[in-house]
Amino acid sequence: MAKEQVFIFDTTLRDGEQVPGCQLNTIEKIEVARALEELGVDIIEAGFPISSPGDFNSVVEISKVITEPVICALTRAVKQDIEVAAESLKFAKRPRIHTGIGTSYYHIYHKLNSNPEAIVERGVEAVKYAKSFVEDVEFYAEDAGRSDNKYLARVIEAVIDAGATVVNIPDTTGYTLPDEYGKKIRYLKEHVRNIDRAIISTHCHNDLGMATANTMSGVINGARQVEVTINGIGERAGNTSLEEVAMILKSRKHLDLQTRINAKKIYRTSRLVSTLMRMPVQPNKAIVGRNAFAHSSGIHQDGVLKRRENYEIINPRTVGINESSILLTARSGRAALKHRLEKLGYSFTREALDRIYDKFLELADSKKEIVDEDLKVLAGSSARDIKRNLHLHHLQVLCGKGTTPVATVHIEWDGTTHSATAEGNGPVDASINAVKSILNKKVRIEEFLIQAITRGSDDLGKVHMQVEHKGVVYYGFSASTDIITASVEAFIDAMSQVVKLSGS
Ligand code: KIV
Ligand code: ZN
Repeated sequence: MAKEQVFIFDTTLRDGEQVPGCQLNTIEKIEVARALEELGVDIIEAGFPISSPGDFNSVVEISKVITEPVICALTRAVKQDIEVAAESLKFAKRPRIHTGIGTSYYHIYHKLNSNPEAIVERGVEAVKYAKSFVEDVEFYAEDAGRSDNKYLARVIEAVIDAGATVVNIPDTTGYTLPDEYGKKIRYLKEHVRNIDRAIISTHCHNDLGMATANTMSGVINGARQVEVTINGIGERAGNTSLEEVAMILKSRKHLDLQTRINAKKIYRTSRLVSTLMRMPVQPNKAIVGRNAFAHSSGIHQDGVLKRRENYEIINPRTVGINESSILLTARSGRAALKHRLEKLGYSFTREALDRIYDKFLELADSKKEIVDEDLKVLAGSSARDIKRNLHLHHLQVLCGKGTTPVATVHIEWDGTTHSATAEGNGPVDASINAVKSILNKKVRIEEFLIQAITRGSDDLGKVHMQVEHKGVVYYGFSASTDIITASVEAFIDAMSQVVKLSGS
């Protein structure tokens, strides 16, 4: 039997972007929209055009560059909203207007100061008006989660008669239980006369941590579109996360459902959204969190090393993560230590391994995590395989309020000292520009993390940098009480490998 399709409606750029402090500019939104197209989403909700000129412009520009997915614009059930949305979609190859109105007791009486009859009428009028601009019109019944099912069914039937192609049943406040939400969808399937003329969509918020469970319950009960965001970002506790639903549908084959998501692009897209929105992903986030495929207890590590499936239900490569990680901590066993040492190219007799394991436990008691550098030292190796051929000898930075940051660096490169001075938009940027002008390599900094180890102002700043050169990623690390020096040292650490390994 052919699998049924579940359409992925991504609202990262609309509901997701409503997170305070995470606003994107038009260029960044286009970058995210392109990544979503590559990821294989079916519909991109690109914005709420009446809300601001920036949102309007983003919908226009995204419509110009995206070819495959439907481009959707949100409106209230207000004529002017719909006109502006239609105008913003004029370049879209496949435009959709998403209009709607609140249908719960709270929304009808305490937000819209209206009554149930008038709300049905406004919904119908909005759909008819949107239909005069585009063929594809989605209707949302805001706060459907808390709406009376009988009344909701009436509204939905009326808007489908008016031409709605998709009917969205949002759990706006994240209040429903999975069983309740599933029953609501089933109720609509069984009681709305014309329901076979529209697709039912889920739109679940995560206020009680049930967004994904509710969405899945909706799908199991007949919804065939899911409204989701990358990393589950969104208002308050967020929306349903795309990666979770996509991987549930991919992993639980007995559901006989499929999406067009190219799972291998999931991790990349998650990182892009997190970086552009400056919104870190919680480490234990399902599928894309730093620890989602990390194993730290000795029993689990031993189990995973014997056979990955012992403790993993998804192969990390499926979602674009290279491999599971075995974190070396005081709870790790010999199997994990041996495995990591072998990966680093060492092999030891049982007795030698026992000795290293004892030293390892001693060190692990005083450090949260043992990294490869520590292991090399433990194993009697030099601190770095690739000996640094670049060294920072001198760094002087002039910066402060009202000045253009300028940095001068002296670098020793294979025994010769080189100097350069450059400006930048901050002290780190100026210093890195100066280093770049000496090395003359085309590189892009993909990740730049500064982390304080404790909390005092005299703390060490640990810097981690990821630099891309000709499609290859190089990592640099450093730590110093001076975070500008640490940043430049981390860049030089990565560049040392670029210079050594890239061959040009
Ligand atoms: O949560 C919600 O109800 C919404 C609608 C505007 C679709 O985001
Ligand atoms: Zn929402």
